[in-house]
Amino acid sequence: MHYGADYYPEHWPEERWETDAQLMQAANLNVVRVAEFAWSKLEPAEGCYDFAWLDKAIEILNRHNIQVIIGTPTATPPKWLIDKHPDILPVDADGHVRGFGSRCHYCSTNKTYHWYSDLIVGQLAEHYGHHPGVIGWQTDNEFGCHSTTRCYCDSCQKAFHQWLQRKYGTLEALNQAWGTVFWSQIYTSWDQVIIPRKTVASHNPGLLLDFYRFSSDMKVEYQARQIRILRQHAENQFITHNLMGLFPEIDYYKLCADLDFISWDNYPRGGGAPDSTRLALSHDLMRGIRKQNFWVMEEQSGPSGWELVGSMPRPGEIRLWTYQAVSRGADGIVYFRWRTCRFGTEEYWHGILDHDGRPRRRYQEVQQTGEELKQLWPLLQGTQVKNEVAMLYSYDQLWALQIQPNNPNLNYIAIAKEYYTRFHELNIGVDLINHADDFSEYKILIAPLLYLMTPELVGKLTQFVQAGGILITTFRSGVKDWNNAVTEKTLPGELSELMGIEIEEYDSIYGDAPIGITMELEGQELEGNACTWSDVIVPRTAQVLAKYSTEYYAGKAAVTQNAFDKGEAIYVGTRLDADLTSRLIDYVLVKAGVAHGALAETGIETAIREKDGMRLLFLLNHEPNTQTAVLPNDYVDVLTETPMTGKIELEPYEVKVLREA
Ligand code: GAL
Ligand code: ZN
Repeated sequence: MHYGADYYPEHWPEERWETDAQLMQAANLNVVRVAEFAWSKLEPAEGCYDFAWLDKAIEILNRHNIQVIIGTPTATPPKWLIDKHPDILPVDADGHVRGFGSRCHYCSTNKTYHWYSDLIVGQLAEHYGHHPGVIGWQTDNEFGCHSTTRCYCDSCQKAFHQWLQRKYGTLEALNQAWGTVFWSQIYTSWDQVIIPRKTVASHNPGLLLDFYRFSSDMKVEYQARQIRILRQHAENQFITHNLMGLFPEIDYYKLCADLDFISWDNYPRGGGAPDSTRLALSHDLMRGIRKQNFWVMEEQSGPSGWELVGSMPRPGEIRLWTYQAVSRGADGIVYFRWRTCRFGTEEYWHGILDHDGRPRRRYQEVQQTGEELKQLWPLLQGTQVKNEVAMLYSYDQLWALQIQPNNPNLNYIAIAKEYYTRFHELNIGVDLINHADDFSEYKILIAPLLYLMTPELVGKLTQFVQAGGILITTFRSGVKDWNNAVTEKTLPGELSELMGIEIEEYDSIYGDAPIGITMELEGQELEGNACTWSDVIVPRTAQVLAKYSTEYYAGKAAVTQNAFDKGEAIYVGTRLDADLTSRLIDYVLVKAGVAHGALAETGIETAIREKDGMRLLFLLNHEPNTQTAVLPNDYVDVLTETPMTGKIELEPYEVKVLREA
């Protein structure tokens, strides 16, 4: 297994490199990522490349059996380049230039930048593309970090025009799609089309959604330049990019299509206690994007911190986070960072070692975890996470609902997470997938907030249900077309037939007082609450699962279920409280015949990786107190080879890896 650290040899005197490599090797590290911010050291003046220092660092690392991943340094264009071509700098929505002095200060459509970026990437690829000690590449660093996905410069405006021409073909089509007749915005030539800088009031939602898509596409295209160059020289080295989990600005399905695998940066603990559900959700998205195992390229190994210092990872937590990643599909773990830097913006972003470079508790934890993973790898290698439940996660829906949240409390990720939470409590794995993916391998599909709809998507959802799947969708579904204009059909628009309902009217809910809900599942009546939104549903062919019990729509349907061919289509017209959401999911699980995961609802997180009938069960205690549970089968603790049955106890932050006996 690949196990390592992010290393910045350029931050330390050369005399220290040997010590670092020795300490790394002793900690079981076998890979480092380097150079992703080192442009001004690699090309101190235009065309003057200096790779000697990096050669030397790599040579020392390789000597200690540590392989290297090189990050292309394009997130930090050097001062000489910015001074020579200041138009490379990105521009914000106010029209202000975002200047030199931090990072990510480039516009990804800028032609001059492309030229220089191609050069430095090409030079590195040529130099290291066949280096036996270099195993792979990371493109740039965290595309879009610090709100740099969307740039409002003139170059982007031009690129936007070209993107729109490719999409719409004619200006008439664009005017039609966006409804520019509203507020006298009809465009009569392509170059009139604005980029959505600050205006007096809000922009056209059609324009905004296309701008979000365009901006995401520009990062994808910019990365494609790097990939093209790297592949020319580095046929036997992998290419990845370090994503940011639930980061919402770039369509990660598109960004990752041409990578060899995904990696991502996981920082569970900032100021307070980590949210294990959110972490699980992030891992599941990172695995779901390509339906493939992934790496963590930056795994937290100390307190975070720039101006403020985050709280210290509790003893056991680094190990716990590592195993959580592995249990959900990580095949590589790289800790950020090797040693805490003495200078620069991230002086307090701690690594495995502190400023003084002396190994302590966190180092020992990394060392022990590395020892264990080495031992586990023969079993772990080639195993995968397999799930019967999927959740649709779409950047188009997310963006459209960011542009128009409909209600101040409506948040796409938060609502997706509310559904995910019950599965997580029950230790039932969920794959987060795209609308273009194949749904047919799943028994249950959770598809919250299908705000934008296409005939193709309706077709796929219908097929899924017809074939026996259970679909859950929610309020604000089928509302708009893919260009972000509202349908003229009665809601839920194109979904009406599948859902067997019509929506008579809706109420956006303000204030703190929730509305009442009465749910009836399998003859059992439950009282609860809902908030944010109420669709007043008129069932056509659907049966009613829940009704409103307060407000002027008391007695009207809030949740319905439509038997459709072999499957069921459930429509949740409001935002149910956690308990009702759980009950509804429990009901659906029984219907679909999906079993609970091991140790469900015990406070112990479990996940399974499997291969050819061999199943590895990971047990994780995310809590600062001991958890006990009863094992459902006979197991063997893989690390200690001890048989395990019956009652099991997990110390705070403890992890166990079991094999079915
Ligand atoms: C990540 C980034 C690293 C480092 C780290 C701590 O977002 O990729 O370069 O900045 O956060 O701030
Ligand atoms: Zn720009």
